[in-house]
Amino acid sequence: MKHLIAPSILAADFANLQRDIEMLNQSEADWIHVDIMDGLFVPNISFGFPVVEAVNKYATKPLDVHLMITDPDRYLKNFADAGAAHITVHYEACTHLHRTIQAIKELGCKAGVALNPHTPVALLEDIIADVDLVLIMSVNPGFGGQKFIQNTYKKIEQLKTLSASQNPDLFIEVDGGVNIGNTPQLIQAGANALVAGNFVFSSGNPLATIKELKQI
Ligand code: DX5
Ligand code: ZN
Repeated sequence: MKHLIAPSILAADFANLQRDIEMLNQSEADWIHVDIMDGLFVPNISFGFPVVEAVNKYATKPLDVHLMITDPDRYLKNFADAGAAHITVHYEACTHLHRTIQAIKELGCKAGVALNPHTPVALLEDIIADVDLVLIMSVNPGFGGQKFIQNTYKKIEQLKTLSASQNPDLFIEVDGGVNIGNTPQLIQAGANALVAGNFVFSSGNPLATIKELKQI
């Protein structure tokens, strides 16, 4: 499968969000990555339902919603109603992950689980067959523009091995510090969906940058 590109609107210009979403619609991006932070699970607050609804009004690509929030079960329906196509919850934020994954699927969304940099891939052994997507955090969640953690390559390889027998169609997504320099090695390791925030939106020409990431 050709790798997918998911620009993160955390790095977009919030005062010109419609313009940036329309740019993504025109681009070679596959998904629009939407980062939700609650100020509790992570030390930052991003935006909530009205903003996701507003993005969904203009977006022509699936909204890949990444919930960096404690006890996400409380808000799954709100995000599905706001237009999420994928809902990814953090392993570290769920007490009953299997139940949460089923609830996401019942809402008609693709279900994902995210792992913090310190959380081993092996912990997914008994849930891997039930999820559509695993998001490997390559920075500590909470902020855009951080430095990529090198240990990520090893985790992607482990995930690729784990998913090969039980879930070969799994989306293996990597999030944080992705740029043109580490993309070839990430794909080589087994990633098939790449989130990029600052690398896309801080470049002089986001359309060209997305194209570059896609064409590797
Ligand atoms: C970090 C978020 C990321 C972030 C990536 O907590 O989950 O999606 O927007 O931003 P960059 O690509 O700038 O590291
Ligand atoms: Zn994210």
